[in-house]
Amino acid sequence: MADGDAEHWDSRYASKAAAAAAEMAASGHSPHLVDLAELLPVEGLALDLAGGDGADGCWLAQHGLEVTVADVSRIALDQAISRAATLGVGLDAVVFDADVATIPDRPWQLIHVAHFLHIDLMNAAAASLPAGGTFAAAIGTIWNLQRHDRPGRRFLLEPGEIKAWAEPHFDVLHWSEDWRTNDQHEAWLVARKPG
Ligand SMILES: C[S@@+](CC[C@H](N)C(=O)[O-])C[C@H]1O[C@@H](n2cnc3c(N)ncnc32)[C@H](O)[C@@H]1O
Repeated sequence: MADGDAEHWDSRYASKAAAAAAEMAASGHSPHLVDLAELLPVEGLALDLAGGDGADGCWLAQHGLEVTVADVSRIALDQAISRAATLGVGLDAVVFDADVATIPDRPWQLIHVAHFLHIDLMNAAAASLPAGGTFAAAIGTIWNLQRHDRPGRRFLLEPGEIKAWAEPHFDVLHWSEDWRTNDQHEAWLVARKPG
């Protein structure tokens, strides 16, 4: 892992625990999930990489999927489990360091990543999806820097980068880059593994 990833993110999640608990009711998921819902599978195994406190994972579980949230922060995963219990959905949570771990070998119908840019991890996700599996992502682009100092440039996509990345691996079902309702400039991608 990059030095201090787990400590950094544990501390961020711990400090927002009280606020997160208050918000836990049903909100907090990323906007692309709702807008692109019709392109996502409605059953089978789903893996939410760097899934944090489980807001997106719980939305995917409510969408019909059997979800595993993988994240480097144990505190985030504890919050994900609490969120799932509050909402009455099933959710698995695994500690996972994208810099050293391999993607769990299961027949994923969906691998999802939001707000976490790690090209090696995306390559591993592309390799581990079976034919017909779906990859979905929402990641900030550098246009975001026009309105926000963070995340910094190294955590943001260049314009068109995710589409160029996806095309050799996938049939692209959706790609767009725009300002979103969360005031972030994000690339959204939904792509299906051919075969
Ligand atoms: C900006 S948050 C995004 C969380 C969630 N996907 C969302 O959209 O709300 C980035 C997430 O990446 C996780 N993370 C950071 N470094 C990681 C690593 N090396 N391996 C796995 N997860 C990591 C953090 O713990 C955090 O949950």
